[in-house]
Amino acid sequence: MRYLTFALAKGRMAKKTMELFEKIGLSCEEMKDEHTRKLIFVNEELNMRFFLAKANDVPTYVEYGAADIGIVGKDTILEEGRRLYEVLDLGIGKCRMCVCGPEEAREKLLHHELIRVATKYPNIAKDYFYNKKHQTVEIIKLNGSIELAPIVGLSEVIVDIVETGSTLRENGLTVLEEIVDLSARMVVNQVSMKIERDRISRIISDMKALVGSRE
Ligand code: PRP
Repeated sequence: MRYLTFALAKGRMAKKTMELFEKIGLSCEEMKDEHTRKLIFVNEELNMRFFLAKANDVPTYVEYGAADIGIVGKDTILEEGRRLYEVLDLGIGKCRMCVCGPEEAREKLLHHELIRVATKYPNIAKDYFYNKKHQTVEIIKLNGSIELAPIVGLSEVIVDIVETGSTLRENGLTVLEEIVDLSARMVVNQVSMKIERDRISRIISDMKALVGSRE
């Protein structure tokens, strides 16, 4: 039997994901050592391997089949646009993708003015402004601390993730428009879904039962 390989997005979500996996019997002791520099963790009994990757790379590993299954945020799935099956909402890491800015920017959005939009998610921003709102904007790609952009005058608004809203509040910004609800999703390689159908379907249904029962 070949290894079934899982790619998890590094960070908070990976820990929560492993807690969920453990509840359906998919555990990986090696992974619990927080000081390890190992990149891939194996459970020989289950014939499974787990690795952590940068969130943006998870869909890439899954599309190419280097991982059979990935756990990653819907934001990353939308932004990367890879060919894969999105099979389950894990209900963790819930947040929203929003257009945010100072209250004064609301008018500019309403009047479809040519504004600048700073974001870590240029594809999501483009799709929202061009295809949904039919509004021409200039999109500026940033890599973090996006809330700075309207404060220092780089852009009028931002497209970013809002979870508790405290980053916005503490910086005098607000949600102006909501784009989409986000959470962690399970994604599956399209070929793996066929050749490992039994093992993967079992995981999906166990996980569905677990996540469903929590709601
Ligand atoms: C994310 C996001 C916001 C913040 C939202 O940033 O980009 O800045 O969290 O959370 P809140 O609504 O609970 O305040 P992250 O911490 O991932 O880092 P980044 O700024 O480097 O993107």
